[in-house]
Parts: sequence; C-alpha cells; structure tokens
Amino acid sequence: MRLAKYLAQAGVASRRAAERIVSAGRVKVNGLIELKPQVSVTIEDIVTLDGERVKLSGFNEYLLLNKPQGYLSTVQDTHDRPTVLDLVKGARSRLFPVGRLDADTSGVLLLTNDGKLAYRLTHPRYGIKKIYLAGVKGIPGVKALDKLIEGVEVDGVLCVPDAVSIVRVEQQEMRARLQITLTEGRKRQVKRMLAAVNHPVFELERISFAGLTAASLARGAYRLLTEKEVEQLYRMVKL
Ligand code: URA
Repeated sequence: MRLAKYLAQAGVASRRAAERIVSAGRVKVNGLIELKPQVSVTIEDIVTLDGERVKLSGFNEYLLLNKPQGYLSTVQDTHDRPTVLDLVKGARSRLFPVGRLDADTSGVLLLTNDGKLAYRLTHPRYGIKKIYLAGVKGIPGVKALDKLIEGVEVDGVLCVPDAVSIVRVEQQEMRARLQITLTEGRKRQVKRMLAAVNHPVFELERISFAGLTAASLARGAYRLLTEKEVEQLYRMVKL
C-alpha cells in the first residue's frame, strides 16, 4: 500500500496529514528517508517516524507458500521437526496454515493470521477448490477411474471428487500422474481415495488452492497475496 495510507492506517495521522509528514522528511523506510507519500510499502518494510517504528496493528497478513516436502504444516512440533513457519522468516504476525498438507506433500499453502477467513476457506460449506497432482503406482484403467469418480469411502464417508483426469502415463515405470479436484479437505484424503482404488500415491503436490497457484514461486519460496487476491478470497467465502 502507499506510504501515506500505511501511516494513516497505523493511526499516525489522517492520510492528508501523513502526506505532509512524509514530505517533511520525517519518515524513513528501511533506514532511508522517503519523501514520496505515494511510494509503495508492504508490511515487510520497516517504517519509522521521527526515529520511532510505526507498525500496523490489527492488520492481517496473507502469504502464499510453495511448500517443499519435509515440512509439517503445523505451527509448532513437539519433536522439533521443521514446520512451514520455519520457511517464512519475514512474517510480522502469528501466522498459521490454512488447512493442512502432509509433510511429504508439496505445493500451494496459504498462511495467514486471519482466523475468520481461514475458518471459512476450510469449511466444506464454501466448497473451496483444491487441485492436486498425484503420482500413482500403476496405470489406472476405466474401472478404477469410474470408481473414483463415483466416489470412494474414506472414514465411512463417501468422497466424490469434483474432477479427475489422467495427465500423464509413464508406461515404462508403470505409473501415472492424475489431476484431482476436491472441495472437501479430509485428512490424507487424496492418498486414501487413491489407495481405495488400488493406485497408491507415491508423490503429491497441490497445484491450486482457491484459484491460487504457486506460479513463479520456487519450492520453499513465498509471496504476499495482493489486495485483489485477498478481496477475491473474501468474496468466495461470502465475507
Ligand atoms: N490429501 C492427502 O492425502 N494429503 C495431503 O497433503 C492433501 C490432501
């Protein structure tokens, strides 16, 4: 957001007054005097007024992480294993992951401190789409695919995917890549659904969550969501 808006939002002064404060040379961004109130800052920047840190209070933070394998999507682990929060050192707030990915699953994971939004994004009522790319053992035939599409039982509940397609067949390795879209989020759902049709998963990646993808993010890297993306998520869950 613009520097003047940042200062106004932090309660320093009105937007207009904040513009004058910046033009007067009283504000530094990351240690350098900034004279342009319209310059863009993010919560990652360190903003000071007359040498005092200005922080946004009550702000919400939204990060999109391209999760690598080997990280738990919990806030803390009792056995000190690495968690996704170890990857986001620049966070300004207490973040938590929106839903879970298994430690050996990679891909799109949203982190936020916005409990209201997170709750709705994970509630089945809002039907948020999650798309996975699953590497499976064996090459699923029509029978297995039909069974999957009709729905398989996981924990006594019938799980019906929104869409399933075979993306690639690796004939020599006797394995395949499937794209599967779900609007629910049960524990280990993709793995258990595919195991139920005798095609166990050997590799799983989430390629989309609520329309967000990890495009241009290397594994382990993250970025802030844009204001537009956050607004879109809010609209999706009727907030
Ligand atoms: N389904 C799984 O089996 N694992 C995940 O991490 C996500 C969905």
